Amino acid sequence: MRLVLLGPPGAGKGTQATAIAEAFTIPAISTGDLFRKNVGEQTELGKLAKQYMDKGDLVPDEVTLGMVWDRLSGADAREGFLLDGFPRTVPQAEQLESGLNERGGLGLNAALNLDVPNDEVIRRLSGRRTCSKCGHIWHVEFDPPRAAGVCDVCGGELVQRDDDKPDTVLRRLEVYRQSTQPLIGFYGKRGFLIEIDATGPPREVRERAIEALRAGV
Ligand code: AP5
Ligand code: MG
Ligand code: ZN
Repeated sequence: MRLVLLGPPGAGKGTQATAIAEAFTIPAISTGDLFRKNVGEQTELGKLAKQYMDKGDLVPDEVTLGMVWDRLSGADAREGFLLDGFPRTVPQAEQLESGLNERGGLGLNAALNLDVPNDEVIRRLSGRRTCSKCGHIWHVEFDPPRAAGVCDVCGGELVQRDDDKPDTVLRRLEVYRQSTQPLIGFYGKRGFLIEIDATGPPREVRERAIEALRAGV
């Protein structure tokens, strides 16, 4: 199963990615997480990516594509994968398509779009907290841990992402509208777009997503 997860910033891609990937026994690969790991380790890639991420802009396609192909060449991604946060531009989607073709002709099975209204994504982003140790995603109001500021999963400290500042959030939403939203049409034309309503509690969204994928591919 080769899947792409689409949706605006704050739609719940990261929240759903692991559970969906587990249901289909494939790895969940998030370009945002890969960039943040590089930023944390202060690699050359991380230093470069941070300049764009802090402004809410996209990291240049050639940098992103290099990182993605490197990750997709991992043994665990041979049988399938779920991509979260990639592709994010039409050129990225075209490169993914041609690259998969060259690497054995196995194309995508589905692009799942998480549909969430704008005011809801702003609420989700402004209350998001991420575990600094295991990466689990929480929300101060919609999905709070038992003890404020502490991860239930691993006891790690919860932090707010640098790019969740109000100005950066607005820029990310604008970049989404300009560069990423056109992918809905791109995958629609290819006949493998699946759209779901991603409002409601995370568990309901997860069930809706898995059911739609099982029915649609
Ligand atoms: P990335 O990390 O991908 O950020 P994003 O697309 O802006 O998406 P988010 O991670 O903000 O949102 P999400 O949909 O994962 O929501 P989440 O599950 O956390 O990218 C960051 C940056 O990296 C980019 O700006 C860019 O610079 C760079 N980058 C990454 N990929 C790139 C690419 N391909 N090309 C170029 N540059 C790239 O949920 C949000 C909150 O809502 C959480 O608090 C969660 O608890 C809560 N929540 C989730 N579901 C629900 C629900 N059903 N009900 C209530 N609350 C919910
Ligand atoms: Mg995410
Ligand atoms: Zn944790």
